[in-house]
Amino acid sequence: GRVPPRQPPGAALPTIYAITPTYSRPVQKAELTRLANTFRQVARLHWILVEDAAARSELVSRFVAAAGLPCTHLHVPTPRRYKRPGLPRATEQRNAGLAWLRQRHQHLPPPQSGVLFFADDDNTYSLELFQEMRTTRKVSVWPVGLVGGRRYERPVVENGKVVGWYTGWRADRPFAIDMAGFAVSLQVILSHPKAVFKRRGSQPGMQESDFLKQITTVEELEPKANNCTKVLVWHTRTEKVNLANEPKYHLDTVNIEV
Ligand code: UGA
Ligand code: MN
Repeated sequence: GRVPPRQPPGAALPTIYAITPTYSRPVQKAELTRLANTFRQVARLHWILVEDAAARSELVSRFVAAAGLPCTHLHVPTPRRYKRPGLPRATEQRNAGLAWLRQRHQHLPPPQSGVLFFADDDNTYSLELFQEMRTTRKVSVWPVGLVGGRRYERPVVENGKVVGWYTGWRADRPFAIDMAGFAVSLQVILSHPKAVFKRRGSQPGMQESDFLKQITTVEELEPKANNCTKVLVWHTRTEKVNLANEPKYHLDTVNIEV
């Protein structure tokens, strides 16, 4: 039979804004290629790619130009003092993405339908994930695979509400969820203009909680992925490349971007 439309007729599909911090390293272009191959298949996705750098790099600029999807290319360097093991990553880059999003929508008339999602460049995203997050009303959540020292972490749901967290790591976190485990509606981002990621006082693994507690409560969260019983995103991490045999002399005769 005929499938009823999910959206009221005439209403456009809400845009999904994906904020991706990225930094220069041997695997960067490979990661961005995998990500673009996924994002290209998602309708109405706007990619906000934020380089951790003092200037836009040629590699990423060329990549964006050829990526074949709507993309905003920003950059902001992480201050040197914050580039240390044990400190949260990509704080400044996610905030730059948030600032761009707020500025862009400041002058547009409401209602502005959109969904924001923080998409690290090394994770693995199923296409179904985007269908799920597209219907976010305020803040939605779902399981994340291969994270927290377990096969997955997930919000525990009872009667359609989040009542706790299945996690093996720092269960005391107010929102025991990875960056890849939630989405926020544009309305919520615009109505909480001061909500940002903070450097001061932020501990490892607390970035998500520190951000989410500025904009929502656990009771208000909307469980996705069949009441948080399906893994649609994986916190994959790429191993460091072995460049032990890179030549110091007798370099290749051509200069190839990798
Ligand atoms: C975990 C979480 O999944 C991240 O969301 C969180 O930012 C991170 O911990 C943290 O410790 O802050 P993890 O896999 O350890 O993730 O972190 P990465 O994937 O190495 O970095 C997260 C994002 O920041 C990536 O998109 C990466 O490209 C970017 N990044 C990383 C930078 O922009 N600059 C850096 O110096 C490092
Ligand atoms: Mn990662």
